[in-house]
Amino acid sequence: MTDNSRHTDKTGTTVLVLGGTGKTGRRVVRGLQERGATVRAASRAGEVRFDWDDRGTWEPALAGADAAYLVDMQDKPGVWDADAHIRELAALAAGVGVRRLVLLQARVTDKVGGKSLVAGEAAVRDSGLEWTVLRPNWFNQNFDEGVLLDSVREGRVALPAGDGREPFVDAEDVAAVAVAALLDEGHSGQTYELSGPRAIGIAEAVEEISRVTGREIEYVPVTHEEYVAELVGYEVPADYALFVADLVGQIRDNRNAEPTGTVRRVLGREPRDFADFVKDAAAAGAWNV
Ligand SMILES: NC(=O)c1ccc[n+]([C@@H]2O[C@H](COP(=O)([O-])OP(=O)(O)OC[C@H]3O[C@@H](n4cnc5c(N)ncnc54)[C@H](OP(=O)(O)O)[C@@H]3O)[C@@H](O)[C@H]2O)c1
Repeated sequence: MTDNSRHTDKTGTTVLVLGGTGKTGRRVVRGLQERGATVRAASRAGEVRFDWDDRGTWEPALAGADAAYLVDMQDKPGVWDADAHIRELAALAAGVGVRRLVLLQARVTDKVGGKSLVAGEAAVRDSGLEWTVLRPNWFNQNFDEGVLLDSVREGRVALPAGDGREPFVDAEDVAAVAVAALLDEGHSGQTYELSGPRAIGIAEAVEEISRVTGREIEYVPVTHEEYVAELVGYEVPADYALFVADLVGQIRDNRNAEPTGTVRRVLGREPRDFADFVKDAAAAGAWNV
C-alpha cells in the first residue's frame, strides 16, 4: 500500500521538467500540477526553453527550481554523451540550489547502437544531490504517440522483434512514479526498474489493437539487417537506424522480459495493462486514419 504519510503538501515546490512536451514529461507536468507544485515545463519548444544542444539555455531553465526531472537525448546516438551532458547539468543544478534530481533512463543495460542507455546514471549518483533513477521498459505509448504510430496506422508493423516479449509499461505509470520521486520522501538513492504487469509479443500487441479498432494490422517479423536497410531507405541516419534496431533486438532476445513489481511497490496500485491502454487510445482516436 502507498504510505500516505510520505505525501506532503507541495504547494511552493518548484520543479523543472525536461522533455516537458514528451511522452512522460507531459504527464509529469500534469501530475505535479495536480499535487500543487509549481512546474516549469521545458524543451526546445516548451514554455521554458531548454536545449541540450545550447548550453546557454541550461542555467536559466534550472534557476529557481527545487527539483528537476531529467529526460535526455538518447535518440541522437552519434552526438549524445549522457555522462558528460548530465554531469555538467547536475553541477549547474547544484550550483543554483536544486536539491533533487529524478533521471529517466531505460531498462536496457546492454549497449544499443554502441551506446549505453544507463550512462547518465553515474552523473546523478555523483552529483551530491538527492537522486532517483527510473529505468522503464518500452512504453505502451510507442504504439500511439511514438515510433510505431505510423506503421500501426498503415496496418503493417515490420520489426526485428521475432516472437520476443516485452512487459510494456504505460507512460502514465512512469510519470506517476516520477512525481512521487520528485515530491515525496523515501525515493532518494533508488533505481526503479518499471514494467507493465505482463510481457507480450509484438504480434499480441498488434492483434489487440486490431481487435479493438476493427482494423486489419499485421505484424511482419523482419531481420535486423532488413530493418536497418528499410529505415536507411527512408533517409533515417544509419547510426540511428542501428540504434532503433538494437533496441528492438532487446525485445526479440527477451532481454528485459520479466515484469517487475516496482510500480505496485511505489504507487500502491497495479500498473496499467496493455489492453486498458489500447481501449483508451482507440477511444481517443489515436489510430483513426
Ligand atoms: N519511448 C520508450 O519506449 C522509452 C522507454 C524507456 C526509456 N525511454 C527514454 O525516455 C527518454 C525520452 O524518449 P521518448 O521516446 O519518450 O521521447 P519523448 O519524451 O516523447 O520526447 C522527447 C522530449 O525531449 C524534448 N527534446 C528533444 N530534443 C531535445 C533537445 N535537443 N533538447 C531539449 N529537449 C529535447 C522534446 O521536446 P522538443 O522537441 O520541444 O524539444 C520532447 O519533449 C529517452 O531517454 C529514452 O531512452 C523511452
